[in-house]
Amino acid sequence: MSLELKLSGKTAIVTGGSAGIGLATAKALYSEGVNVAIASRNQERLDRAVAEIQSLPTPGAKVIAISADLTKAEDIEKVVSTTLAQFNQIDILINNAGSARAGSFLESTDDLFLDAWNLKLLGYIRLVRAVVPHQKSRGDGRIVNIIGGAGRTPRPNFLAGGTSNAALLNFTKGISKELAEYKIRINAISPGATATERAETLARQNAQAQGITVEEVKAQNIQSIPLKRIAQPEEIAALALFLVSDLAASITGTEIIVDGGSTPGV
Ligand SMILES: NC(=O)c1ccc[n+]([C@@H]2O[C@H](COP(=O)([O-])OP(=O)(O)OC[C@H]3O[C@@H](n4cnc5c(N)ncnc54)[C@H](OP(=O)(O)O)[C@@H]3O)[C@@H](O)[C@H]2O)c1
Repeated sequence: MSLELKLSGKTAIVTGGSAGIGLATAKALYSEGVNVAIASRNQERLDRAVAEIQSLPTPGAKVIAISADLTKAEDIEKVVSTTLAQFNQIDILINNAGSARAGSFLESTDDLFLDAWNLKLLGYIRLVRAVVPHQKSRGDGRIVNIIGGAGRTPRPNFLAGGTSNAALLNFTKGISKELAEYKIRINAISPGATATERAETLARQNAQAQGITVEEVKAQNIQSIPLKRIAQPEEIAALALFLVSDLAASITGTEIIVDGGSTPGV
C-alpha cells in the first residue's frame, strides 16, 4: 500500500505561514500541488517565505501572501475574501498563528492574557466561522488547529497560552459534531517543544522568569522529554498533511500530540 495524499488542485489557508510550523506546512502543501495562501503581519517575512516556497518543485501549485493581523476581525475577513478571489475555493484551513508570551504569573497583566486569547483562541474561532459557510456549500472541508501541549499540561509560566490552548481543545471537539453534518473535518495537533523562532523566544522568556540561563532552560526542556529530542517543524507539517488528506477521512474532533512522550496524563 502506498500512502498517496491526493491533495493536488486543492487550496489551503495557512495562518502564520511565514515562519516555523506554518511555513513548514505551507511548503509541504505546495509540494503536494496545493495552492496556498499564507497570512501573517510582517511583509518582508512573507515575501521571503513566498520565495522559499516557490523555489520548491510542485505539480503546478501557486502561493500568495496576505498581510494580516489575525487579532483583527476585519483582517480575517480579508484573508478569506482574498483567497477566494484568487483561487475560488478553500478546501483546507491550517489555523496556526499564535504568539503567547511566557512569564511569571504574578507579574502578568490582563493584556498578556487578552493578547494571547485574542490572537489564538478568538483568531482560530473567527477563521473557522469565516471559512465554514464556503466549505459547507461545497460539502467538503478539512481544518487543522495547531494547539499545543500546555492545553492539557499547564505550566505556571505559560498560563496565557495554556488557557487559550485548553479552550481551543474544547472548541475543536465541540464544533466537530456540527461540522461533520457537512463533511467538514476538524482536528488538532498539539506540538510539544518544536524547533522554531518561537521556541527560542519562549526559552528566553522562561529563562528570565526562572532567573536561569537560556542554555539551562533548553537543557531542562530536553531532559524532560522521554525521547530526548525537540521536534522539527516538518514533523508537524507531515501530520497536518495526513490529517487534511482522505487517508484521514474518518478522523475528526481529535487531538494528536507530538511531544516526544512528554504528556504525563492519559
Ligand atoms: N514551537 C513550539 O515549540 C510550539 C509548541 C507548542 C505549540 N506551538 C504552536 O504552534 C503555532 C506556531 O508556532 P511557531 O513556533 O511556528 O511560531 P513562530 O515561529 O513564532 O511563527 C509564528 C507565525 O505566526 C505569525 N503571527 C504572529 N502573530 C501574528 C498576528 N497577530 N497576526 C498574524 N500572524 C501572526 C508570525 O508572523 P508575523 O510575526 O510576521 O505576524 C509567524 O508567521 C503557534 O500557535 C504555537 O502556539 C508551538
